[in-house]
Amino acid sequence: MIKVREATEDDNWALIELQRKCPMGTRLALRLNGSPDFFARSRAYEDWHVLVATEDEKIVGSAAYTRKEAVIDGELVETVYEYGFIVDPERRRRGIASMLQGQIEESVRTDVDLLHLNITADNLPSINLFTKLGFERVKECRACMLMAYRRHRPVDDLHIRNMTQADVSDVVNMLNDFYRDHVFYRTLTAEAFLRRYRGLPHFDLQNIWVYDDGGVKACLGYWDYNKVMRFAVERYMWRWRILRPILEVVGIFAEVPRIPKQGEQISNWYLTPIACRDPKGLTSLLKHLLNKALEENVDFVSVPLDLGSPLTAILSIFRRYEGEFGWYMKSLGQRPIPDLLDKRLYIDVADI
Ligand SMILES: CC(C)(COP(=O)(O)OP(=O)(O)OC[C@H]1O[C@@H](n2cnc3c(N)ncnc32)[C@H](O)[C@@H]1OP(=O)(O)O)[C@@H](O)C(=O)NCCC(=O)NCCS
Repeated sequence: MIKVREATEDDNWALIELQRKCPMGTRLALRLNGSPDFFARSRAYEDWHVLVATEDEKIVGSAAYTRKEAVIDGELVETVYEYGFIVDPERRRRGIASMLQGQIEESVRTDVDLLHLNITADNLPSINLFTKLGFERVKECRACMLMAYRRHRPVDDLHIRNMTQADVSDVVNMLNDFYRDHVFYRTLTAEAFLRRYRGLPHFDLQNIWVYDDGGVKACLGYWDYNKVMRFAVERYMWRWRILRPILEVVGIFAEVPRIPKQGEQISNWYLTPIACRDPKGLTSLLKHLLNKALEENVDFVSVPLDLGSPLTAILSIFRRYEGEFGWYMKSLGQRPIPDLLDKRLYIDVADI
């Protein structure tokens, strides 16, 4: 019989093993590896729960959720963000993911209005699962993965420096202005900003830079996500299979992007925080960061985006891979699913 309970730290290695067995995606399938701490991803949130489904005491599935207060149409709404659904390949289509979902809903039903999650565009089992369970797609989004494969010159290094304590309130004001009209974005105070970034596992405040040209014009930080979770390519699309050997040969003579081999790990930094008053300043910061990523053998620096984001145009000058994903919502109470089609969505990198 399948039972569902809250995970404990003792489940760590069983969950890492289950995660290893559950690559995600179809065209581009990635194998996730959260070792040595499966719970590191969840520690980015203040209030989180990991559930496990067990059969004869053996863990056969898992799912996680966190409560988030989100601003939607100017109102503060109680939401739950769900992530990390995995079921042992030998136990699929037996209703285990549906049971985990049922348990989440039972735990939060009394005080939560909306549930939300994201699914990569080619993850058909997952799209079918959550559509069947009452979720609706509310927004198309992109994971914009900039490739660190060549040095960018010239970089306006004279105007680039690390953020200091004295910059915090200016950076916070810039973030608030930049994301003011984005659904989900909660206006930050300096204290909330510092609590947020000090709370992200393996994030270092030293990794936030500002572009200063008679005042702070842009800010950019990176989160070395390889320390939280690593990704290996399990399978990828035919275009990459054909391109890989070609690029390897061309790469002897010129600087070209590297496509990892099947089974190989890809390293990734997430961009956060990211905002500007002057796009030129942010472009310089991105070049500076891509040069640093190249020096440290990091393949991608990425940011999840709503397609209507003002960042789209700034990032579009860089060579990149774009992975599509959808944002899904389900209403638990009286509040209907909001119409987000013409609105911009703020996506927290911790959710991806
Ligand atoms: C997605 C996943 C969690 C589903 O787990 P599961 O326990 O097999 O799901 P359930 O048995 O509860 O399925 C419920 C419904 O979802 C849909 N579904 C699930 N797997 C499906 C598949 N492979 N193909 C098509 N539909 C599928 C079906 O409608 C199914 O109902 P049915 O079996 O009566 O037709 C599992 O396939 C998995 O671990 N995948 C890899 C990791 C992953 O992609 N996680 C999701 C990230 S968003």
